[in-house]
Amino acid sequence: MPPRPLVAGNWKMNGLRANAAEVEKLKRLMAAQTALPCDVLICPPATLVFTVAAAAQGSAILVGGQDCHPKVSGAHTGDVSAAMFADLGCTHIIVGHSERRADHGETSTLVAAKAAAVQAAGLAAIICVGETEAERDAGQTLKVVGEQVAQSLPAGALPGNTTIAYEPVWAIGTGRTPTEAEVAEVHGFIRDALHKRFGAAGGEVRILYGGSVKPANAKALMAVRNVDGALVGGASLKADDFWGIIGAYLG
Ligand code: PGA
Repeated sequence: MPPRPLVAGNWKMNGLRANAAEVEKLKRLMAAQTALPCDVLICPPATLVFTVAAAAQGSAILVGGQDCHPKVSGAHTGDVSAAMFADLGCTHIIVGHSERRADHGETSTLVAAKAAAVQAAGLAAIICVGETEAERDAGQTLKVVGEQVAQSLPAGALPGNTTIAYEPVWAIGTGRTPTEAEVAEVHGFIRDALHKRFGAAGGEVRILYGGSVKPANAKALMAVRNVDGALVGGASLKADDFWGIIGAYLG
């Protein structure tokens, strides 16, 4: 049986406390729907986790972080640990987003250390992978994604606390998406890698697609084999748009 889908919103460095109103709105939209067939997660900036978690209370909305330090605590000015996100009620933390790999030079080795910290804190790691446009043009997509998956999953990862997000870098924030066949190829490749790693339980690991997911394209992308949900950036900021994407699972 495929895993229960997850629609995850990544607010990136956007939002002030007033944006909690969007969470309240999403909560109202969700309340009108009985038996939601997917999990819903919002990953706001660290400054808003407390506020968003408070706004989400009494709903099925899960709250997560966007990144964390590999250590639990210590002299690391400006950093936030997985234990701190757990303390605020978070269930997931995104690690290895391409913006962190690019802006902060994060390697897959560091991403694996962060994912291990997330899992040690009892949370699920959403580990992002994806090729650049130059890598795709050079026919390197599967090589790059394969290496990122192999090197970014920590040694102790379990199917239950691991999610992979395939996000082609050239599709993030650009309005461009891969074709359904291209998505199917990469997701199938990641599924094979997960089976090699976890055996039959590799089928239980969610593989999210991310990169310019919108209400208009969500249904087609979510219908692709081995796509178990979405990681949504820009379109997660407005409750109506995010709800439109969740709508891909509402029949
Ligand atoms: P986007 O971002 O939906 O704005 O393209 C996706 C992501 O970076 O997770």
